[in-house]
Amino acid sequence: MNIQQHVSLKTLNTFGIDAIASEFVDIHTKEELMVLCSNFNLAERNLLVLGGGSNVLLTRNVAGMVIKISIKGISIVDETNDHVWVKANAGEVWHDLVLWTIAHGYGGLENLSLIPGCVGAAPMQNIGAYGVELKNTFHELEAVAISDGTVHSFTNEQCRFGYRESIFKQEAKGKYIITAVVFKLNKHPQLNTSYGAIQQQLAVSNITRPTIKDVSDAVIAIRSSKLPNPKVLGNAGSFFKNPEIPTSQFETLKQQFPEIVGYPAAAGFTKVAAGWLIEQCGWKGKRVGNTGAHKDQALVLVNYGGATGDEIISLAKTIQESVLQKFGINIQPEVNVI
Ligand code: FAD
Ligand code: EPU
Repeated sequence: MNIQQHVSLKTLNTFGIDAIASEFVDIHTKEELMVLCSNFNLAERNLLVLGGGSNVLLTRNVAGMVIKISIKGISIVDETNDHVWVKANAGEVWHDLVLWTIAHGYGGLENLSLIPGCVGAAPMQNIGAYGVELKNTFHELEAVAISDGTVHSFTNEQCRFGYRESIFKQEAKGKYIITAVVFKLNKHPQLNTSYGAIQQQLAVSNITRPTIKDVSDAVIAIRSSKLPNPKVLGNAGSFFKNPEIPTSQFETLKQQFPEIVGYPAAAGFTKVAAGWLIEQCGWKGKRVGNTGAHKDQALVLVNYGGATGDEIISLAKTIQESVLQKFGINIQPEVNVI
């Protein structure tokens, strides 16, 4: 195990923020991680676990240890005539896993194509896109306890998945490092093309009987048309969550703002498109110093180069205040602020 000192994290987070880790270790096996957790008193240290760094905003140096999870491997662990259980280790690139499932003809992950990051982080916020969430195919995960290196498993129910939520952002926060995830996939794929943009994209390509590959290609085309590529422009995807407000409040707002975009959520609640709210406050495409709200997706804050985490936080706060003032809605960050 090679523990390095004073390592720059600039290329390890998609915002491209320059922060320093006092100690850095790249982990390639579960066993190595178990040794690290059982021998190094990690529970008492300042820790940051990293996958692809595509959902973090670094606002400070990490005066402790950064543990990058690079455990690779995809395998089939069980199958029936209808289903297959696929285990992916935490360091696999998420989109590579999706492409693997598509190449094998297993349905379930195609709508989640091209989401950046690694498999191990996917359960943290129950990643979701285009009408599908991780929880729809999640079977169980394996995690190592930071306090003593023991291995635990969590079922779908135990993970308490919600919209951009899981137990790992609540009670279990900072207690486990996820090492593998098992998905239950379908050998006879049932497509989910309910998201309007997917239907439009399939129609543009003249596809009437889509395959999982067609759905994946449609999602890739939609995402590429509006989400900035972090390799070109630093960002961490949606900076804020779409707020869920009482439907009565939504109806009142709709009288004043007839174009407001909302979707049914839990009973009595409506999920509002935060990108629309932010755009209406005049932020879309606006640049403030080295940061700004993206020109095609106001929900995505970007680093034009050289921004600090604090600069991005400052912009985020100003945006939050303007949305609160105009709509009376308090939008909350989706990105993990470190
Ligand atoms: P990181 O950023 O490395 O980590 C995220 C959090 O998980 C941190 O708190 C970290 O400490 C923790 N963590 C990471 N790995 C582990 C582990 N093995 N065990 C325990 N904790 C861990 N998200 C969506 O849900 N839907 C989208 O459509 C979407 N689109 C995006 C588009 C763009 C352009 C970008 C840049 C991001 C987007 N995201 C989206 C956000 C991001 O891709 C996901 O949250 C992704 O799962 C993060 O993976 P990561 O490996 O980069 O996580
Ligand atoms: N909109 C605007 N202006 C904008 C952006 C969006 O008016 O600047 C409107 C759109 O016109 C559309 C609605 O808002 O009517 C929704 O937009 P979009 O389909 O782009 O999705 P989103 O709600 O902004 C969410 C997720 C994305 C995910 C997409 C697709 C959150 C916080 N974000 O974005 O996830 O890819 O849906 O399902 O839930 C991420 O988490 O990082 C992320 C990119």
